[in-house]
Amino acid sequence: MASSDDSGPGVALITGASRGIGLAIAADLVAAGFQVAITARDADRLAQARQALPPDAVVSSIAADLTEPDAPQRILEQVVATLGPPRVLVNNAGSAPSERFDKTVLADLDTALALHVRAPFLLLQAALPSLRAAPRSCAVQIASTAGLTGFPFTSAYTAAKHGMVGLCRALAAEFGSKPPRVYAVCPGFVDTEITRQAATEIAARGSKTFDEAMEALGGMNRIGRMHRPAEIAAAVLHLVREQPEGCVLDLDRKVPAFV
Ligand SMILES: NC(=O)c1ccc[n+]([C@@H]2O[C@H](COP(=O)([O-])OP(=O)(O)OC[C@H]3O[C@@H](n4cnc5c(N)ncnc54)[C@H](OP(=O)(O)O)[C@@H]3O)[C@@H](O)[C@H]2O)c1
Repeated sequence: MASSDDSGPGVALITGASRGIGLAIAADLVAAGFQVAITARDADRLAQARQALPPDAVVSSIAADLTEPDAPQRILEQVVATLGPPRVLVNNAGSAPSERFDKTVLADLDTALALHVRAPFLLLQAALPSLRAAPRSCAVQIASTAGLTGFPFTSAYTAAKHGMVGLCRALAAEFGSKPPRVYAVCPGFVDTEITRQAATEIAARGSKTFDEAMEALGGMNRIGRMHRPAEIAAAVLHLVREQPEGCVLDLDRKVPAFV
């Protein structure tokens, strides 16, 4: 078992890293020398993600559903047992179902809060002793511009992402200069399965083709186009490496800024 002190940059745990933004973050952290633990529910997709990472990378794959209350503790224990205590935690796992408010049921809200607030909260608590002990440790939450402003047809998701941003602000205030550094990263629409699913649903309603729907969603970003997963990963790597002052990073700007 390696420790963060004696084996390069150390260990990074990235949730929801079987595809999309999480896999791009895992790839960048591997390239930066980290040993990575990647999680998702679907073990087959995790195995595909492992194949997409360099063969000589040190990777631990953990299949778990983060809406289950005991999953964060189990994941953390497995990471410590296989790779060692993490220096970097990236709470990225998420889903973004879209629904009119009057059709949104309590289970939708419970799932959104469990995935975007409770699981990050519990993982941060479980990882805190490791993060406290490691030099230049860092916890990055992948929030969203839906954590900063209101979007229609996403009441549960938007409420949960606001909760995630609030959690980060509270921890940054509580920890002050003590490690870990806590960040929330807020992209607009990113070209991943979440967005492609939304475009598929819009196209199924008949008013737009899939490509038109993707373009329209990208056009809702202030930057006027869809983000790419690699851009989010680059922002996370910058935070991990440089540890700038600030907490909530709005990426949907010509020049990303803390807000
Ligand atoms: N795409 C966007 O436009 C966008 C914009 C702003 C913020 N974000 C945020 O970015 C994060 C990553 O999203 P993405 O766009 O990369 O989506 P994605 O391609 O759909 O990837 C989501 C990842 O989360 C995992 N996941 C989903 N539900 C889970 C659960 N209950 N337990 C454990 N893992 C779970 C998925 O694997 P399994 O399905 O196998 O579990 C997958 O690895 C999310 O938090 C999302 O809210 C996305």
